[in-house]
Amino acid sequence: MKSFTEIKETLKEYQAGYLLNFYEELSEEERENFMEQIEKIDFAYMKELYESVKNGVTFETGEKEISPITAFDKTKLSGEEYQRLNILGESLIKDGKLAVCSMAGGQGTRLGYNGPKGTFMLDLDGKPTSIFETIIHKLKMAYEAFGVHIYWYVMTSRQNHAVTVKFFKDNNYFGYDKNYILFFEQGELPLIDKSGKVVMKDKSHIFMAPDGNGGIFKALEDKKILNHMREHGIEYLAVGNVDNILINMVDPVTVAVMKENQSEALSKVFMKPSPEGKWGVFCKIDGIPHVIEYSETPKELLEARNEAGELIYGDVHFGCNFFHINLLNRIASEKLPMHAASKKNKFLAENGAEKEEEVYKFEAFIFDAFTMANNLIVCRVKREEEFAPIKNKEGDESPETALELYKKFYHQ
Ligand code: UD1
Repeated sequence: MKSFTEIKETLKEYQAGYLLNFYEELSEEERENFMEQIEKIDFAYMKELYESVKNGVTFETGEKEISPITAFDKTKLSGEEYQRLNILGESLIKDGKLAVCSMAGGQGTRLGYNGPKGTFMLDLDGKPTSIFETIIHKLKMAYEAFGVHIYWYVMTSRQNHAVTVKFFKDNNYFGYDKNYILFFEQGELPLIDKSGKVVMKDKSHIFMAPDGNGGIFKALEDKKILNHMREHGIEYLAVGNVDNILINMVDPVTVAVMKENQSEALSKVFMKPSPEGKWGVFCKIDGIPHVIEYSETPKELLEARNEAGELIYGDVHFGCNFFHINLLNRIASEKLPMHAASKKNKFLAENGAEKEEEVYKFEAFIFDAFTMANNLIVCRVKREEEFAPIKNKEGDESPETALELYKKFYHQ
C-alpha cells in the first residue's frame, strides 16, 4: 500500500487532486477504502485511453484493406466426417481436455433487469428456471454422455460477484458437483469525463465499470483460473455469452476441428440473411481475421453483397468462442485494444453537486484476441440450434423470443 503522500503526488502529476476534495468528510474506514480504489487506477493508462478517443482513433480511420474471411462450414460436413470428428472430440472431452466459461460480468442494461443476467428467471414448461440453470442442464447432459464432470468457470464483476455466488449456494448448485464450478471476478476501469478526468460516483467512490468481456484474459490469469486449467491438464476453453440460452459449449466436433488443425481459437458464427442485427461480423483487415462490432461497422460493409446476392460480411460472431490454453497463456499479459462508448451518466462533480453528462466508458472486446491466434477457425453452425439470446425487455432478442427458439429446438 502506498502512503498518503505518494498517492497525493500521483494525483498531482495527473491533475487529479480534486479526487480528494471530500476526503476530510470521510470516516476512517471510508478513507482507507477510497485510497485503495485510487491506488488501483493506472492514471497513465487512462490518459493514454483518453488521448486515443480525443484523437478519434477508430476502426474507420486509416487506410485499411478489408476483405472477406473463409469460414469452415460445420453444417456441410458429411455424415461420415461428422462421426469421425465427433469420436475424436468425445475422447478429448472424456480425457478432461475441455472446460467451459460463461461471461456473466456484464451489466445487462438493455434487459432492464436489476440482478446478474444469469439469475434471470424463465418459464420452462411451467418450471421457473434461471439462465444459469439452463447451462447446468447441459453440463449434466454432458456428464451422462461422457461420464466426466466438466469444469465451469463463471466470470462475474465486482458489482454482481457476491449475489451470483449466493444464488448458486442458495440453489445448491442446481445439483451439479460444486467442486466443478469456479467463480472469478473480472477487472474494472474508471469512467472519465469529456475532459479526461476520472469521475466520482459519490464522495467515497470512484465511478468504476467492468472492463468489457475482453477483460476475461487478464482475469483468467489474475484470478488463477489459468493455473487451475494447467494443473488439471485442460487444453480447450469454450467461452460463451451468458445470455444465449441455446449456447453449445460442450461440442465435441468443434474441439476435434481445433485439435486437427492445431488451431488456437475457434469462433462459431451463423450467416445472417440481411444487414440488420446488433451483431459483430467477421472480415479480414489487412489480411488478418477480425470481428467488427455492430457499433463500429461502416454501412457499406454491412450491406455489401456478392454476385449471388449474399452478404459478403454476413458471418455473425455470436459469442461462442473456443481458445487453446497456449493462446490464453500468451495473451494474459497483453493489452487488448480498448473501445470507448460515450453515455450519459449521473456522477459527482468536483464541487460536490450532482452532474449528468456524457462520460466515456472503456471496454475490451473478447474477439480482439483472435488477431493474436494461430490458425483461427471461423466455424459456421446452424443459428436455430445454437442462438437464442436474451438482450432486450421486449421485441427482438427478448425473453419471449428466446424461449420460443429454445422450445422449438428442444421439442423438435
Ligand atoms: C455481443 C458481442 C457481439 C455479438 C453479440 C451476439 C462482444 C463485445 N460483442 O454483443 O459481437 O454479435 O454479443 O449476441 O462480445 N460481459 C461481461 N463483462 C463485461 C461486458 C460483457 O461478462 O464487462 C458479458 C455479458 O454478460 C454477455 C457477453 O459478455 O454475456 C456479451 O456482452 P454484451 O455487452 O451483452 O454484448 P452485446 O452488445 O450483446
